[in-house]
Amino acid sequence: MAHNLLKGKKGIIFGALDEKSIAWKIALHCVEEGAEIVLTNAPIALRMGEINKLSEQCKAPVIPADVTNMDDLKNLFTKSMEHFGGKIDFVLHSVGMSINMRKGKSYTELDYDFSHKTMDISAMSLHRVLQTAYQLDALNEWASVVALTYIAAQRVFPDYSEMADAKSMLESIARSFGYHYGMKNKVRVNTISQSPTRTTAGGGVKGFDGFITYAEKMSPLGNATADQCADYCVTLFSDLTRMVTMQNLFHDGGFSATGVTADVINQMEK
Ligand SMILES: NC(=O)c1ccc[n+]([C@@H]2O[C@H](COP(=O)([O-])OP(=O)(O)OC[C@H]3O[C@@H](n4cnc5c(N)ncnc54)[C@H](O)[C@@H]3O)[C@@H](O)[C@H]2O)c1
Repeated sequence: MAHNLLKGKKGIIFGALDEKSIAWKIALHCVEEGAEIVLTNAPIALRMGEINKLSEQCKAPVIPADVTNMDDLKNLFTKSMEHFGGKIDFVLHSVGMSINMRKGKSYTELDYDFSHKTMDISAMSLHRVLQTAYQLDALNEWASVVALTYIAAQRVFPDYSEMADAKSMLESIARSFGYHYGMKNKVRVNTISQSPTRTTAGGGVKGFDGFITYAEKMSPLGNATADQCADYCVTLFSDLTRMVTMQNLFHDGGFSATGVTADVINQMEK
């Protein structure tokens, strides 16, 4: 059920890899709500070709950009403004990858070359995106930037490993850049802390099945789905949330505020 909340708005969506990606759902919901979008992902991810389906559905061009490459990001923002014939109203950062996790290295045996790459892709990239937009003056006043994060930034989830540190940094960058961009241009920057969700990146976390079931049992409303995350994201891109900035916003069915639930207690008493 669309409400035209993003009518006339123009946005860039990072991170739609396949139909399971949270960014994929967000792209669809933004277009349903009346936005025009540009899709982007790393050149290597685009080679899988799945994004072409989304591109057709959303009538959106795809402009490749590796988030660790400043030339790619400059090209992305410049070409997007050319395509839209003006500045941009919203940006979704839905990018994350742990090289150590991929290589099966636990938190106590990190390879620091891999860690540098993880931090660059998963956290510093938000700074790169914001700095590129800031320097090109690419965002309209009251534009909204949202990055996706996870509660491992605040609490320990052992198998989330170095990504917990990356997410802490990501949330800090959202706050810090949110200050500067708010002062300069009234641009808002927030993070959404989403429930565990079955996607390619999510499935890379060891023990994900147990993890997602535990979160479900620990959330009064259950886990938030990718579609529900897309709905929430639309509100943050809309004009209805203009005074929300520099926040980490939990979208997790109440998980973050719950100590224990009856379900979990019952499980322990078995
Ligand atoms: N799935 C979950 O349980 C969950 C929960 C909370 C937050 N998140 C966050 O949501 C975001 C999206 O993840 P997802 O679960 O939809 O998985 P996903 O694997 O579909 O998305 C991750 C995206 O990052 C992109 N990416 C990786 N390296 C890149 C690079 N160098 N340049 C540009 N793009 C690059 C990938 O191509 C992919 O599209 C991530 O930040 C993730 O940490 C996921």
